[in-house]
Amino acid sequence: MLQGKKIVLGITGSIAAYKSCLIIRQLIKKGAEVQVVITPAGKEFITPITLSALTSKPVISEFFAQRDGTWHSHVDLGLWADAMLIAPATASTIGKMAHGVADNMLITTYLSMKAPVFIAPAMDLDMYAHPSTQQNLKTLQSYGNHVIEPGTGFLASKLEGKGRMEEPENIVACLEQFFSQQESLRGKKVLITAGPTYEKIDPVRFIGNYSSGKMGFALANECANRGAQVELVCGPVSSSMQTNHPSIHRINVESAQEMFEACKELFSSMDSAILCAAVADFAPEKVAEQKIKRTGDEMVIRLKPNPDIAASLGQMKKQGQTLVGFALETNDEESNAQAKLKKKNFDFIVLNSLKDEGAGFRTDTNKITIITADNKKDYPLKSKEEVAKDIIDELERL
Ligand code: CTP
Repeated sequence: MLQGKKIVLGITGSIAAYKSCLIIRQLIKKGAEVQVVITPAGKEFITPITLSALTSKPVISEFFAQRDGTWHSHVDLGLWADAMLIAPATASTIGKMAHGVADNMLITTYLSMKAPVFIAPAMDLDMYAHPSTQQNLKTLQSYGNHVIEPGTGFLASKLEGKGRMEEPENIVACLEQFFSQQESLRGKKVLITAGPTYEKIDPVRFIGNYSSGKMGFALANECANRGAQVELVCGPVSSSMQTNHPSIHRINVESAQEMFEACKELFSSMDSAILCAAVADFAPEKVAEQKIKRTGDEMVIRLKPNPDIAASLGQMKKQGQTLVGFALETNDEESNAQAKLKKKNFDFIVLNSLKDEGAGFRTDTNKITIITADNKKDYPLKSKEEVAKDIIDELERL
C-alpha cells in the first residue's frame, strides 16, 4: 500500500521526535519515499544528519536553502506529496496549523498541501486536554485533516496516557489503512455533475443559480482519491474551481441541455452517477439573437422545460449501476426527498435543507441526510470534503 507513495514527514519540537526515526524506517521499508520538514524546535531534539541519513534526502527546515538565492518551495512539496504526516505534532504546531500562522517551513508546507494530512499529537496530558488544544484539533479535523489520537485513533493503541504520541507502527498502519481505502474504487467509473447551469436569455444575459460546484468537485476528488476514473460534467463555475487529479476528466458545459447530452452519452459505460449539479428546470423558449433593449414597462420571458437529467438516467439505469441524487429543499424536506428518490429511480438521495445554517449553496460546509428507500441517516455539519467521504462511503456500501 505504501509502495511508491511520497510522504512529507513534519517533525516538531517534542521529546517524541526520536520516534520519527522509527516512522521513517518503517515507511522506507514499505517502499515509501520520505521528505522530512522539521521546525527549528524539532532540530533541538533530533539532528538533521540522522534524518537525512535515514531518508537519503536533505532535510528541509529553512525557507532558504543557502544564502545564494535558492529556496525551498513549499508549493512544490504540497504537489509532490501523496500524504503529509506531522509526527510528533506539538500543541504549538497544532495551534499554528489551525490558525494559519505560517511562520516556519512546516506550516507553509501544510498550508500548501494538496494531499491528505495526518497529525499525531504529542504533549503532556494537561496540554492535550486543554480546551484550546481540543478546539484546535476539532478545527483541523473539520478541515479534513486526520488526527491520529493515541488509543482512539484508527487503531486500538497499547498506550494508556492520552497526549503521548501514538506508537510509530500504529501511525504507519493508519497511513496504510488510508491508502488501502483509497483504492476501494479502483477500476470503477463514476459520472458526476456539478455546478449551476446557465440558460441564455440573450447574448449577454442568462438565468442561473448560486451553486458554486464545491460539493461536486469534492465528490470528484474523493472518488478519484479512491482510485475511480471520474467524468466530471461541470456547469459554469468560477475559474478558481480547478481539478488537478489525473483521474478526473472534466467536461465543461453551460446549459441543462448540454449537460443532458454529455451525461446521456457517458452514462451507459459508468458504474455510478452522482447528480450534484443544480440544473435549471426551465430555459427561455427563445434566445434573442441581439441584446434585448429596454422597452415598455414590463418584460415577459416565456420558459420551456429542460430535460430532467436525473429522471432520464434513472430510466436508462441497468442492473449493477448506481444512481445518486441531491435534493435541496426549503420545506417538507423528507417527504419531498422521498418523492424524488422514487420519481428519478435513485438508489439514494442526499438531502440538504436550506433551514440548516451552513448547508447548501455558497458555503464550504454542508449538513446532509442520506435517504434510501427504507432508511434515513442524519449527519452533522462538516466540510464539503468530509461530506463527500460520507456520501462515497454510502455509495460503496451499496
Ligand atoms: N436534476 C437533474 N436535471 C434536472 C433537474 C434536476 O439532473 N433538470 C437532478 C439534480 O442534480 C438533483 C436532483 O435532480 O440530483 C434533484 O433536483 P431538484 O432540482 O431538487 O429536483 P426537481 O426535480 O427539479 O424538483 P423541484 O420541483 O424541487 O425543483
